[in-house]
Amino acid sequence: MEKKIFSGVQPTGNLHLGNYLGAIKNFVQLNNDKKNKCVFCVVDLHAITVYQNPKELKDNILETVATFIASGIDPKKSIIFNQSQVSAHSEAAWILSCIARMGWLNRMTQFKEKAGKDKEKASIGLYSYPVLMAADILLYDSTHVPVGDDQKQHLELCRDIAQRFNNDFGAESFFKIPEPLIQKEFSRIMSLKDGTKKMSKSEISDLSRINLTDGKDQIINKIKKARTDTLPMPSNVQELDSRPEAKNLIGIYSSLCGISTDNSIQQFSGKNFSQFKEILSQILIEKIIPISSEIKKLLNERDYLTKILSEGCKKADEIASKKIKKIHEILGF
Ligand code: AMP
Ligand code: TRP
Repeated sequence: MEKKIFSGVQPTGNLHLGNYLGAIKNFVQLNNDKKNKCVFCVVDLHAITVYQNPKELKDNILETVATFIASGIDPKKSIIFNQSQVSAHSEAAWILSCIARMGWLNRMTQFKEKAGKDKEKASIGLYSYPVLMAADILLYDSTHVPVGDDQKQHLELCRDIAQRFNNDFGAESFFKIPEPLIQKEFSRIMSLKDGTKKMSKSEISDLSRINLTDGKDQIINKIKKARTDTLPMPSNVQELDSRPEAKNLIGIYSSLCGISTDNSIQQFSGKNFSQFKEILSQILIEKIIPISSEIKKLLNERDYLTKILSEGCKKADEIASKKIKKIHEILGF
């Protein structure tokens, strides 16, 4: 079966190892399968749900495109574009916000985390963020959506919105109900400083994450300083339940090597963390430095990156504006 793949990444800077292992690595595999039609979106409208400096936003949009390409996404095989340039996204988000229920959005844990204690001060966009995400996905009749584990709830909401629209307007299977593609293992990479918090762009300490633009020395230093516990390396999987930092580092190693957690544990059982960290740094350097060098090279080719976006926008607009037209007909506009 032909799969229609859609995913998005926010251009908010500091793309990191979590984005790569949780999402982008998966995009590359999907892009390489000829049977798939892939759309990868730089979700700049999502980014402005919290204040963005305009000059930095512009740079971050291009850096996200550079990261896609440096990681191995081929712009000839996939559509790469930025959301703000295809107006159907904003329009569909409004329409779907009339379908989504307050009760559904009130359950979204990401809003609660991002808004923090003072919800009154959060933007309305931050609250309705998952509705825009549903619009992104549904405009392209997407069948599969590769994301990290943190986006699972948003995808469930997207499915609810699609079903409700189809039911309310008697438009059976008008919106396709998308399947999440979340890796079974290693779909949530945690902070290097706290194994109970996810690795994040917005974490103040840069030592908490490996950025995809980090150089060799930064990687070595960050892994050296990564938090561990005082016990030797674990000797079985059960031990990991109570050792979040060890679990995360072993997870990163296993994911980069493409091996199981069990396999990694056997390899390092009884050794100490410093021996393991040296090998982990080596594999990180092997996998991340080629991407980081390519990103830096591409960032000097702004015209090339801009052209990829404008060509992608044209193709995306063709698909999305057709769907919006049909939505108008269904609604009676
Ligand atoms: P964002 O940067 O929030 O737009 O996220 C882009 C993609 O990376 C989404 O599919 C997220 O689910 C994924 N992602 C972000 N942080 C992590 C993490 N720490 N571990 C795994 N996946 C992540
Ligand atoms: N909300 C996603 C994130 O923060 C990004 C996103 C926006 C997305 N639109 C999407 C992901 C559509 C998948 C499909 O990671």
